[in-house]
Amino acid sequence: MSSVTEHYERILSPVYSWMTGGADAALEAGRAEIDALDLHLPAGALVIYLGAGFGMHAIPLARAGARVIAVDSSEQLLGELRRLAGDLSITLVRDDLLSFRAHVNEKADLVLCMGDTLTHLPEHTNLDFLIQEVAESLVPGGRFVISFRDYSEALVDERRFIPVRSDERRILMCFLEYEEDTVVVHDILHERAGDAWETHVSSYRKLRLSPERVIGSLESFGFETRREPGMRGMVRLVGKLG
Ligand SMILES: C[S@@+](CC[C@H](N)C(=O)[O-])C[C@H]1O[C@@H](n2cnc3c(N)ncnc32)[C@H](O)[C@@H]1O
Repeated sequence: MSSVTEHYERILSPVYSWMTGGADAALEAGRAEIDALDLHLPAGALVIYLGAGFGMHAIPLARAGARVIAVDSSEQLLGELRRLAGDLSITLVRDDLLSFRAHVNEKADLVLCMGDTLTHLPEHTNLDFLIQEVAESLVPGGRFVISFRDYSEALVDERRFIPVRSDERRILMCFLEYEEDTVVVHDILHERAGDAWETHVSSYRKLRLSPERVIGSLESFGFETRREPGMRGMVRLVGKLG
């Protein structure tokens, strides 16, 4: 079993933007999702993005005039974000998202943790800690947007085999193995190498978080919360600090 960071280094970081349909398409989808949130941020708003990846939402936010602090543990994905962002106002932080406050010295207008990053937390007890840290980092009326996969209902039999993306050079599949509070995600990547296929397999654990559990935590730290459908079957929660 790999840690999250090892798993991204071994399998996911090198193919992440390909997996989401290519950087251009993903940035456009990210822009559309940010627009759909109807955030009306003030000019020069401070935005903290926890698990920014290659910048699918961070780049559109910076293009719209926000100052973005992008936190991620993957050096490779942050490198891709830097290349795609050019001279936009995005500060890159390579660290565990649970330590984000060490890198911020003013209150933020918006914090995001999108694209199923929340389920990568090591323990269920980290959820309340993170939400409290975010609540204490926001201006009054600031928002916390989360999107994640609801793994609380276990898939069974062949529904646990999920084709992620394939083309003539690559095939990415994942297999889900459910445990009581967690799910082990086995990623299987086939890549064309000359006339042959190379296979890479790596596994890591994600949390089975129910939307009700996350909403309960948001509300206990003072967020008024709206629930809506997110991208690619995810749940999206928009918490507004009272
Ligand atoms: C599923 S990807 C989502 C990326 C991006 N939010 C998106 O929607 O495209 C999860 C991201 O979180 C990062 N990540 C996972 N656990 C982390 C942690 N504890 N601290 C910082 N980054 C983390 C990974 O490196 C990866 O970039």
